[in-house]
Amino acid sequence: MASQPDVMDKLVSLCKRRGFIFQSSEIYGGTGSVWDYGPLGVELKKNIKDRWWNAMVRSRDDIEGLDAAILMHPRTWEASGHVAGFVDPLVDCKTCKGRFRADKLEDARCPQKPSKQPGQHDACQLTEARNFNLMFKTYMGALEESASIVYLRPETAQGIFVNFLNVQQSMRQKVPFGIAQIGKAFRNEITPGNFIFRTREFEQMEMQFFVEPGTDMEWFAQWKQLRMEWHLALGLSPERLQFHQHGSGELAHYARAAFDVTFDFGGTLGFQEIEGIHNRGDFDLSQHQQASGKKLEYFDQQANKRYLPYVIETSVGADRTTLAVLVNGYREESVAGEDEGRVVMGLHPALAPIKAAVFPLTKKDGQPEMATKLADELRRAFNTDYDATGSIGKRYRRQDEVGTPFCVTIDSESAGDQSVTIRERDSLAQVRVAMDQVRGWVQERIAL
Ligand code: GAP
Repeated sequence: MASQPDVMDKLVSLCKRRGFIFQSSEIYGGTGSVWDYGPLGVELKKNIKDRWWNAMVRSRDDIEGLDAAILMHPRTWEASGHVAGFVDPLVDCKTCKGRFRADKLEDARCPQKPSKQPGQHDACQLTEARNFNLMFKTYMGALEESASIVYLRPETAQGIFVNFLNVQQSMRQKVPFGIAQIGKAFRNEITPGNFIFRTREFEQMEMQFFVEPGTDMEWFAQWKQLRMEWHLALGLSPERLQFHQHGSGELAHYARAAFDVTFDFGGTLGFQEIEGIHNRGDFDLSQHQQASGKKLEYFDQQANKRYLPYVIETSVGADRTTLAVLVNGYREESVAGEDEGRVVMGLHPALAPIKAAVFPLTKKDGQPEMATKLADELRRAFNTDYDATGSIGKRYRRQDEVGTPFCVTIDSESAGDQSVTIRERDSLAQVRVAMDQVRGWVQERIAL
C-alpha cells in the first residue's frame, strides 16, 4: 500500500511551467503518452544517466560500454521470443470504444460515469481477450512489403547479446564480465499513462553480466544488492523503496528468477517497478546461437572448456527513475517568519539541473558585473544560472522549485571584502565564502 501523498498533478504542472517536461507536439494537441524533456529535464535525466554510467562502466574494469543501433536484423526478435511472446492481452469495449489490458482491469477506469472498473457498468460490452504484440513495426528501404519489416527495439538488451563475442574478444574480457548500454526502447503500450511512468518511447539503462553457469544465483544476489544501493545513493527515501519478487506466473519468458526494485510513487499508483533484475540463464545466447548458426560460446582458457554463459541482467528505466527522483524530491513547506510557504524540489545536488545560481543583490555598485563574472567562472565547472530580476526572496523561491542546491549573492560588501553569501536550499543556512573559493566550495558539495 502507498503511504505517500499523490503529487503527480502538481508535478506535471511544475514540470511544464519550469521547463522540465513538455507534452510532445503540444501545439497539435499532443501525442498520446509521449513527452519531451525541456532544458532542466534534459539536465536532470542526463545527470541520472551519467551516474549510472559511472557506477556501471567507468568505475569498474569488468563492465564494458556499448551503443548498439535501435534497428536490428528482424530475426533477432524471432530468436529473442518477442515476435511470438511479447504480447499483452487486450480487450475492447463495444460501448465506449475503450481498450484495456485484460490482466490489469482492476487498475483501469471505464470512461462512463460514475468511474468504475471496465466491465462493471451495465452497458459495458467487453470482447474476448486477444493478444496484442507491443513491438512497433516499420519498413527498411523503399518497399513497404513484409520482407522489409523491421522493429523498433522493445528493449536494448538484444543489442548486447548479439555483440557478446565482439565485446568479449575485442576487449579481452574474461567471464565474469558485463556489457552496459543506455538507449531508447519502444513499446506500443495498450495503457500508457501516469506522466512519464509508462510511455511508448522511453530510455533504458541495461547491463548484462555474463557468468559461469552454477555461479549465477550468487551474482544475482550481488547485483540485487548493488542496484538497491544505487537507488538509495540517488537520494530516494529508503521507506519508498522495496523489492518485489516475481512469482512463477509473473516471470518473463526468458527469466529463471526476477526481482523488481519498486518505488512508492504515492497516491493510488503506489509501489511500482522502476528496475528489473533478472537471471536470464543462457536463454538469449542459446536462442541467438541456434537462429544465427554462429557459435556464441565462451572459451575458458584456464579450465580449457567452452560454455554458454548465463546472464544476470539489471534493467532500469531512465524516465521512470527521473519520475521517481522528482516525486521523491517534491515538497511544500512553510518558512519561519514568512507568510508564503515554498515549494522545494529536494534533489540530490549531483542530480540537480542547476548547481548554483548567482544573484546581484541590487543593480548598483557594480554588483551585476561582479555576479556575471562569477557566474561565467562557475559555468566552466558546472551548470550555473544568473538571475537579477525580482526580489531576492522571489529569486530564492524560483531556484528552490527547480532544486538548485546553492544560491550565491553578491552584495554591497562583496567589492570590499571579495566575498559572497551562499545560501543552502534545504537548511536555509547562509555562509560567507571568499569569491575565489566559491567554485571549489560548490564542487566539493556536488561531487558524485
Ligand atoms: N530487458 C529487460 C526489460 O526490458 P522490463 O522490466 O520490461 O525488462 C525494464 O523493463 C525497465 O524499463 C522497467 O523497470 C522500467 O523502468 C522501464 N520501462 C519498461 N517499459 C516502460 C515504459 N513503457 N515506459 C517507461 N519505462 C519503461
